[in-house]
Amino acid sequence: MSRAKRKLDHIEHALSSGQERTHGFEHIRFVHNSIPDAFVDEVDYSSEIGGLSLSSPIFINAMTGGGGERTKMINQQLAEVASECGIGIAVGSQMAAIRDPEERKSYEIVRQTHPNGVVFANLGSEATADQAKRAVDMLQASALQIHLNVIQELVMPEGDRDFRHTLTRIEKIKDAIDVPLIIKEVGYGMSRETAETLASIGVQMIDVGGFGGTNFSRIENARRERKLSYFDDWGINTTSSIIEVTEAAKGISVISSGGLQSALDVVKSIALGADATGFAGYFLKILMEEGQNALIEEINFIHKDIKMLMTALGASSLSELKEVPLVIGGSTKEWCEQRGIP
Ligand code: FNR
Repeated sequence: MSRAKRKLDHIEHALSSGQERTHGFEHIRFVHNSIPDAFVDEVDYSSEIGGLSLSSPIFINAMTGGGGERTKMINQQLAEVASECGIGIAVGSQMAAIRDPEERKSYEIVRQTHPNGVVFANLGSEATADQAKRAVDMLQASALQIHLNVIQELVMPEGDRDFRHTLTRIEKIKDAIDVPLIIKEVGYGMSRETAETLASIGVQMIDVGGFGGTNFSRIENARRERKLSYFDDWGINTTSSIIEVTEAAKGISVISSGGLQSALDVVKSIALGADATGFAGYFLKILMEEGQNALIEEINFIHKDIKMLMTALGASSLSELKEVPLVIGGSTKEWCEQRGIP
């Protein structure tokens, strides 16, 4: 199957895959505060990750590029939304454009459309340091995302099978680029051990990419005759992964992603220790099914709702939000107990 066809297939399947186990946000409950010392108009949800200033904790996470006119159009529309709403945006893996310069347009359109905004470049961990530099240059990127997607590769019939020396490549990439590096999962979450290993080589930003949203095992299995269905329920849910990574790597900027759909998910993510939040599948679904204006409206509502929620919690900034009391239940509580996280 061609790369372009696979990209479009991903989009189609991502819009239709449903699953039972969740991201875990329903396990997080805030302790109500009857005397919050806060005013909606003074709530400031700006953030900083790895030295980058974000006017909003929300960004559009990596999805597409390199599939011809259709993916170029999707990227342009997403970038217009990002620009209109004042949020950051990541492009999908740029390997297609590194291999074939004809494909560059579908990525470059993102920087052209969002000239002064936060734009993240994206490659897989198979990339060399030279390819990483080229991906950053292609977009004058604000940061580079390197995705880890072992399970997706294993379930893909034509996927990678050799995952050796990933850490060495990440280290070389980190040393070669002059923008911040984000290491991200794509829906299987990251563990404390993984975060500690990444921190030990100097990685300063981790996007947990937790279980509970887009499920690449299901997406890839849908294209397989003999299914590797044991990977469909694989991975650490988003809440557990935020807790794991925050616990492991103090001083690391943590990005929450994996199934986020609301302001409440954003506010819970930050209260658990995240510094920013990435939305992929949910925003794509709105764009494809309801159009660009609907997505702009949704993001504007999420921004307003974050202010309402932070006011109710008495938090005027994200650093105050990180201190509010919360109660953890359900399988996230069980996970923390068994993993020895207080
Ligand atoms: C993705 N994702 C992704 N991630 C990445 O690092 N590079 C990529 O090229 C892609 N491609 C891609 C295509 C499509 C159609 C989707 C829906 C997603 C993964 C994405 O950035 C994110 O990590 C996961 O989708 C989990 O977040 P959501 O979708 O649950 O919000």
